[in-house]
Amino acid sequence: MEVLHVNQLHKRFGPLEVLKGVDLTAHRGEVIALIGPSGSGKSTLLRCIIGLEKAESGEIRCEVPLGMVFQNFNLFPHKSVIENLVEAPVIVKKMKRAEAEPLADDLLKKVGLEDKREAYPCQLSGGQKQRVAIARALAMQPEIMLFDEPTSALDPKLTKEVLQVIANLAREDMTMIIATHEMGFARNIADRVLFMKNGVIHAQGSAEEMLGDPQDRELREFLAMEHEEHAAQELFDGDAVFERSAE
Ligand SMILES: Nc1ncnc2c1ncn2[C@@H]1O[C@H](COP(=O)(O)OP(=O)(O)OP(=O)(O)O)[C@@H](O)[C@H]1O
Ligand SMILES: [Mg+2]
Repeated sequence: MEVLHVNQLHKRFGPLEVLKGVDLTAHRGEVIALIGPSGSGKSTLLRCIIGLEKAESGEIRCEVPLGMVFQNFNLFPHKSVIENLVEAPVIVKKMKRAEAEPLADDLLKKVGLEDKREAYPCQLSGGQKQRVAIARALAMQPEIMLFDEPTSALDPKLTKEVLQVIANLAREDMTMIIATHEMGFARNIADRVLFMKNGVIHAQGSAEEMLGDPQDRELREFLAMEHEEHAAQELFDGDAVFERSAE
């Protein structure tokens, strides 16, 4: 069953045409990885879908509630974890606190942070903040979750704990669209991979078709570049580099 349908979406920022006719369909329970070079329009597409940006033309049809998780967490810094989680359900959904709190506690358990209930965002690691952000989005009981590079602000160890939470959601058949540069993760988790380039979906297919040994030349070039960047990043992050230079 189709839960999201995007048809010929166009979006520009002043003279810059960012989305040049994007078509996208998501089915219930499907996990879609959105990949593509920096500036290709991935964030803009997700922001249009959830309504943070307004497209000039085209159509977005979605009958079910959406949630979104951002790269930089966007938690309320002056509110405790539990307050971050109950705020929107109580204010926006008019849910009773007595209902919202147990729901929030369940979600904290789900992301492995029940012991951080009373903590403030500044007392959490990046990975923990992002897991709170995921729980907070889930508190609005969305049927589709959009993730915009949920791990790109995190180091590899913290990335893993966040990806694990997202993988658990996939197992529970949550419909998800995930903009990511984590190709290994995309290959493991995605039912379908969309490759964005220059404001359109340039190619799409199963994770295996797209990330295994793809035929499309531009996709191959992109993957080779990502691979190189990733390797360079690991070199920077690796303790080995520091040990060696300390000799
Ligand atoms: N609010 C804005 N005003 C002006 N230009 C913008 C705005 N938001 C995005 N852009 C431009 O639109 C283009 C697409 O940006 P977008 O953030 O969607 O790319 P992206 O695919 O998410 O890239 P990345 O992988 O780096 O996150 C870029 O050239 C960007 O500079
Ligand atoms: Mg982006």
